Amino acid sequence: MSLFPQQECGKITVPDLLSRKVSAGCPAITCLTAYDFPTARLLDQAGVDLLLVGDSLGMAVLGYENTLPVTVEEILHHLRAVRRGVRRALLVADMPFGSFHASSGRMLRSALRFVKEGGAEAVKIEGGENRIERIASLVDADIPVIAHIGLTPQSIHSLGGFRVQGRTAPAAEQLRRDARAVQAAGAFAVVLESVPRELASLITADLRIPTIGIGAGPDCDGQILVFHDFAGLGPSAPKFARRYADLAAEISRAAHEFVADVRAGAFPSDEESYHLPAAMRDEFSPRSRAALERNTR
Ligand code: KIV
Repeated sequence: MSLFPQQECGKITVPDLLSRKVSAGCPAITCLTAYDFPTARLLDQAGVDLLLVGDSLGMAVLGYENTLPVTVEEILHHLRAVRRGVRRALLVADMPFGSFHASSGRMLRSALRFVKEGGAEAVKIEGGENRIERIASLVDADIPVIAHIGLTPQSIHSLGGFRVQGRTAPAAEQLRRDARAVQAAGAFAVVLESVPRELASLITADLRIPTIGIGAGPDCDGQILVFHDFAGLGPSAPKFARRYADLAAEISRAAHEFVADVRAGAFPSDEESYHLPAAMRDEFSPRSRAALERNTR
């Protein structure tokens, strides 16, 4: 028996992804978010390379208005569930708002919990030039890092909303600097969210590490979508998010059918019921019950 059964099924590792540049002829990196065991298992078995327990959890699953209230405990809870379903994909945990802002020490304690208690193989952190010290200290602690630049939803208040980033020359130049800075700090990949295709393409060509786009056009080295946008479970989705399924419609149809069936007595059927052994059935038949009731009156 192999000591490394996961390696045999093509386990995705950080060094694998580090070298996955489309310009070098590599296949694009496929990434989705996941928040629970059954979904993670399906996505992993389908061959998705990277699963992210993103802080989008807050909006997609927990019903928060934005990602800001998400806590380390909430990420950890869902991370553990996802971990149980993943064999092949690289599992990444998102550093939620507040977990890395106050101090490097506090950030490291949370990131180490994601690795030790949640089984994360890397963490993702929002920010560019302003986060290089944090990225370097995670890397120094042997925790691989994916940086996240462009539209960083944790900065929603300073950005003034969910807006496309890098549309002016200074903003585009800042994003190029951010990308170079996170690479120099040791990030092994960078998420580019909601940036013009042309800029994402330029940054992708400029970096040694892979870029993973979300609303950044087709020229990145990989693509990521939020599961609920991809599966049609969210109430609405951004323009860039293609719906690969309409699970909301399917769940709603099934629930209506269930309600109608139960009300009509059509569920459960006799085949969907358990039965007594044949020898006991007579004793519990409606006729015997009626006789028993008569005798006890
Ligand atoms: O939290 C998340 O799901 C993310 C992805 C959108 C990249 O940050």
